[in-house]
Amino acid sequence: MRVTIDQIKEMKLKGDKIAMLTAYDYTTAKIIDEVGIPLILVGDSLGMVVLGYDSTIPVTMAEMLHHTKAVLRGSKRAMVIGDMPFMTYHISTEDALKNAARFIQEGGAQAIKLEGGLSVAEKVRSIVNCGIPVMGHIGLTPQSIHQLGGFKVQGKTLDAARRLIKDAQALEEAGAFAIVLEAIPAQLAKVISQKVGIPTIGIGSGAGCDGQVQIINDILGSFTDFVPKHAKQYAKLADNMSNAITEYYNEVKGGSFPTEKQSFSMDERILEELTKGD
Ligand code: KIV
Repeated sequence: MRVTIDQIKEMKLKGDKIAMLTAYDYTTAKIIDEVGIPLILVGDSLGMVVLGYDSTIPVTMAEMLHHTKAVLRGSKRAMVIGDMPFMTYHISTEDALKNAARFIQEGGAQAIKLEGGLSVAEKVRSIVNCGIPVMGHIGLTPQSIHQLGGFKVQGKTLDAARRLIKDAQALEEAGAFAIVLEAIPAQLAKVISQKVGIPTIGIGSGAGCDGQVQIINDILGSFTDFVPKHAKQYAKLADNMSNAITEYYNEVKGGSFPTEKQSFSMDERILEELTKGD
């Protein structure tokens, strides 16, 4: 049985911190799941850290579904959350419902995430009413990067902070089971976390949130185009990978790979027969 939204809500009530990580493939999802992380987000950050786009905007439903299915195959216990790509829930409620349903029906996800507060609350309500759990996402919402004018901390003025509180309350009221708070001052994120009954999952929003989410490539140090301030590198996989690949390259060129250990042999008599007369 996978983790349920009730178990996640219960964690806030008990004061148990909630850990969430992104994953985009089978192998990584399997490791995250075996560690016991309860929430795996197939984020549209996929576009930047896996597909090499310069923002999340080009990511399509087809790409998200392809990777969501892989994460599903790699995990047994975690709740897998599919991230609705840019413009797949904005044009109409019908679109939002259709695309949310695709994550559940085709991708096998247990929930979806979408960006926005008050402005998407009615869409959230409609999706939840269809039986699909929704995670909200407010603060720095990367799909609105052109509107926001860059990857900037949000909610620093009184008006902006009040708007974010209203956004969080609107999402809770619409039935979201949790909300990602991205790049919000730690003090404001704490206030929001106290004002809503559903768990807040912070990224770059301080320790006062009910949980934390990070992009897997950031904590493993495998994505090196830039390292966000909010990320802590628990490993330096890019360095490890580069060293391993260099060693392989040198051994192939120098003839020391493969050795007998990595080779297969055949019956000497067959070989003799084969090379008779050569
Ligand atoms: O796309 C993503 O990975 C996200 C997280 C940063 C929360 O939305």
